[in-house]
Amino acid sequence: MTILKGNPVRGRLNAVVLRGLDNYGGRLLGPRKRELFADLPPTVVEIGPGTGANLRFYKPGTRLVAIEPNPYMHGPLMAEARRRDIDVELRAEGAERMDFPDGSVDAVVSTLVLCSVPDPVAAIREIGRILRPGGRLVFVEHVRAGDHAGYAAVQRLVARPWRWLFEGCDVGRDTETMLRACGFELEVERYRMSSVLLPINPQIAGVARR
Ligand SMILES: C[S@@+](CC[C@H](N)C(=O)[O-])C[C@H]1O[C@@H](n2cnc3c(N)ncnc32)[C@H](O)[C@@H]1O
Repeated sequence: MTILKGNPVRGRLNAVVLRGLDNYGGRLLGPRKRELFADLPPTVVEIGPGTGANLRFYKPGTRLVAIEPNPYMHGPLMAEARRRDIDVELRAEGAERMDFPDGSVDAVVSTLVLCSVPDPVAAIREIGRILRPGGRLVFVEHVRAGDHAGYAAVQRLVARPWRWLFEGCDVGRDTETMLRACGFELEVERYRMSSVLLPINPQIAGVARR
């Protein structure tokens, strides 16, 4: 299914902003990603890869099936793939319905995406459907601040404009609870980034298996 989503102005703006943040994000999240991505298989499905922030952490020669509905991300993503020697098959579709047989995928990667997918429960179920038994979802996601009053106040303040500007990004999602409710077992680290990007704190990172 092809879903070319998005507003032409905000879609382009998001691609420019993301590209601009890829190096900064790489420095902030690099150590975690290096550890989480270390033993990924030769073929990986990544949902919402954006402009390719994760490609530097894959082994050169990796085959990446990229599920990216925003067409303005595609050019920078493919340029980054050439730079990093990643063999990308690009699919302009949403993670809620992916064209893979049941139980056919070894590993799915999602970083800062389940906040933006319009129907995160459908996407998580779909990931569960396509993963083979023993396969894994590797994730890094920002989540609802919960009992941290400072971050919770920031999230409440920015929630609406943030969602509008960043094409649906919801700073208040409880992604850990959604993953567990969809039947995944998690190895999860909960942390706060030391960053000016206050609304996208706290975060969770880890591996989810069914
Ligand atoms: C905040 S960006 C994160 C990009 C990248 N993963 C990173 O870590 O920098 C969110 C990404 O999710 C994508 N996205 C939005 N809705 C989606 C959906 N339904 N399925 C897959 N990706 C989606 C957006 O187009 C965007 O590329």
